[in-house]
Amino acid sequence: MDRETLPPHVLLFPLPLQGPVNSTFKLAELLCLAGLHITVLLTEDIHSRLLRNANTQSRFDRYPGFQLKTIPDGLPENHSRSGDKFMELFDSLKSKTKSLFKEMLTYGAGGLSSETRRPVSFIIADGILGFTCDVAQELGIPIVYIRTISPCCLWVFFCLPKLIEAGELPFAGDDLDTLIKSIPGTENFLRRRDLPDFCRLGDLSHENIQLYKTESQENARAYGLILNTFEELDELVLSHMRTVCPNLYTIGPLHAHLKTKLSKETTSNPASSSSSSLWKEDMSCLTWLDSQPSRSVIYVSFGSIATLTKEQLMEFWHGLVNSGIKFLWVIRPDSIAGKGWENQIPAELLEGTKQRGYIVSWAPQEKVLEHAAIGGFWTHNGWNSTLESIYAGVPMICWPYFIDQLVNSRFVSEVWKLGLDMKDTCDRAVVEKMVRELMEVRKEEFLKRADEMAKLARRCLCEGEGGSSLSNLDRLIRDIHSMSE
Ligand code: UDX
Repeated sequence: MDRETLPPHVLLFPLPLQGPVNSTFKLAELLCLAGLHITVLLTEDIHSRLLRNANTQSRFDRYPGFQLKTIPDGLPENHSRSGDKFMELFDSLKSKTKSLFKEMLTYGAGGLSSETRRPVSFIIADGILGFTCDVAQELGIPIVYIRTISPCCLWVFFCLPKLIEAGELPFAGDDLDTLIKSIPGTENFLRRRDLPDFCRLGDLSHENIQLYKTESQENARAYGLILNTFEELDELVLSHMRTVCPNLYTIGPLHAHLKTKLSKETTSNPASSSSSSLWKEDMSCLTWLDSQPSRSVIYVSFGSIATLTKEQLMEFWHGLVNSGIKFLWVIRPDSIAGKGWENQIPAELLEGTKQRGYIVSWAPQEKVLEHAAIGGFWTHNGWNSTLESIYAGVPMICWPYFIDQLVNSRFVSEVWKLGLDMKDTCDRAVVEKMVRELMEVRKEEFLKRADEMAKLARRCLCEGEGGSSLSNLDRLIRDIHSMSE
């Protein structure tokens, strides 16, 4: 085939964390389905973890235009790359990976282009990796950013300079219930307590404030911004964001968008929608759920980064067991600080868990949330988990851990009315009360609201009803074609 007639070649470069990697693979597959040639560029560390735990490559075998490529993140091999070391990873990517990235794009190094594949004609990179935009602009390759955190938190980032100017930042760690007034659209409900956790430190020179303060200028540099949300969910903040970044592609929820497209394909095979988990999924929990009554189980998971102290673990565990509600709990092996807790679990907890609980180290979360036995989700409100819960129509108890999760949990409870916000609390009595409240006392009210929201989420992917996410993805694909010419 004449190289000129080959499809556009899009390079996707996610932030090397579970959430962004998940979202990027979903988008990559959607673009493969549209017939584009796709390269997903992963750091070597993420690539080797994926190979160990997921069948990502085989899931893409059916797309001849797909390839995975790797790039070093610049950290030593024995670096833990854990969530609390994120800034080290980020700095290393910025300082060491940029030149390699440029080399790959300039010379097609690492097999980036070939006889049957054009050189990269379009880039989609995580909006926090600003160096990708420097390189793209230098080489004249069109670039669109993707942000996989919530738009509501991104909007808070955009407004950080305003908060500082208005004197609302910094504040000391007290009076956390004071309302924040200088973020348009959220004046009536967003409190100091709901801002990203680093805002509480009272230190404007903190590395995170410095990192996120320039978000609005950074994100406005690219041709557009892809967001994992749908118009109806985030209308409150999207209209404000468009004043800064006019070209938003709201194409989420990505996991559902992909599922919808795949289900329309007669040739689709179920394995093709498998996950890109960095941990091995324990499928046995689905069998356990099969034997539970409808809407009777609360699913508990705090995502891929959050860690608990041994004391927090015990408070949560007592609260869950005392609530009398059945629970499925993900305890990641690396999520408990300190060793030896496995041997110190009180007998009553072991007994309560045997009767009503099931614990796994990693679950097939999307499948779990869609299981009929699940009636609630106690979550850290990572954006993927929040969207997955909304789409599945499952109400939430929110225990945000850091950054965007604190904003998300406020939106869940106050804007979308989909659950209860437990932030800043870790007490067995509160846990017990909230679990009962969600799963018994206010069960019908929350399930009804969650069902309404899930219907909206489905509508944005519905062809007959002019689904907003469907048409925004079509627009993105059209723009990729026209800008790749
Ligand atoms: C990180 C940040 O913490 C979060 O705030 C940001 O929004 C995205 O990146 P993370 O802890 O990875 O979040 O949470 P989340 O965004 O919810 O992503 C976790 C993903 O792992 C979800 O897609 C979820 O389905 C999956 N998961 C989680 C599993 O497949 N199995 C599990 O047992 C737990």
